[in-house]
Amino acid sequence: MSKTISTVIKERRSVRKYDPDFTIERKEILEMLEQATLAPSTSNLQPWEFIVFLDAEERKDLRKIAFNQEQIETASAVIAVLGDKEFYKNIDPVYDSMSEAGFVDEASKAVLVGNAHKAYPYAPEESRKNLATFDSGLAAMQFMLIAKERGYATGPMGGFDKVKFAQRFNISDRYFPIVLITLGKENSPAYSTTRFPIEDKVKFI
Ligand SMILES: Cc1cc2nc3c(=O)[nH]c(=O)nc-3n(C[C@H](O)[C@H](O)[C@H](O)COP(=O)(O)O)c2cc1C
Repeated sequence: MSKTISTVIKERRSVRKYDPDFTIERKEILEMLEQATLAPSTSNLQPWEFIVFLDAEERKDLRKIAFNQEQIETASAVIAVLGDKEFYKNIDPVYDSMSEAGFVDEASKAVLVGNAHKAYPYAPEESRKNLATFDSGLAAMQFMLIAKERGYATGPMGGFDKVKFAQRFNISDRYFPIVLITLGKENSPAYSTTRFPIEDKVKFI
């Protein structure tokens, strides 16, 4: 029987030591990303993109950009999660696909599409980036839990030079890097971590 979501959440840790000889098929990485993108997003506009780093040479450069963190080279793959600043360009394809699937009728579609076109393209870039970052974070978290459920280890990494990343990997101005996620088989257990008592973080009103 597969583990419950609570067990997966409890057992996930940020792993930094990986078995360098372990490989994960592209097909399985794609399946996990497909599941991850079942995450909710603003108006279902899915403001994310992923670059899956498998190639050793590319990862040598990525490691330099990520302040020499060794897991970049020892993990089976590194997934760069990018945000889409121009996610409003997805409005028509998203709602066309919903209508083709029979999930939205033409009248509701016209209203939803009209509202989205009036709002998102005119939002300040900072708001669009915040929104894309939040939504991509939801997908990134789902990816880490899905990987854990399948017995793999992951580690989110914000410690990399985002400007150099965009330059080295030719990221167009539409997209911006948010986080790297290492994926693989852990070589030694991650260290345990604690959390603040929940009562210190929650207020019921
Ligand atoms: C956005 C983000 C960026 C992070 N960046 C790094 C990083 O660059 N290197 C690293 O070793 N860990 C990084 N971490 C992992 C955190 O240190 C880790 O999640 C935290 O210590 C709690 O540990 P746990 O995930 O094992 O429970 C990052 C985590 C997040 C969410």
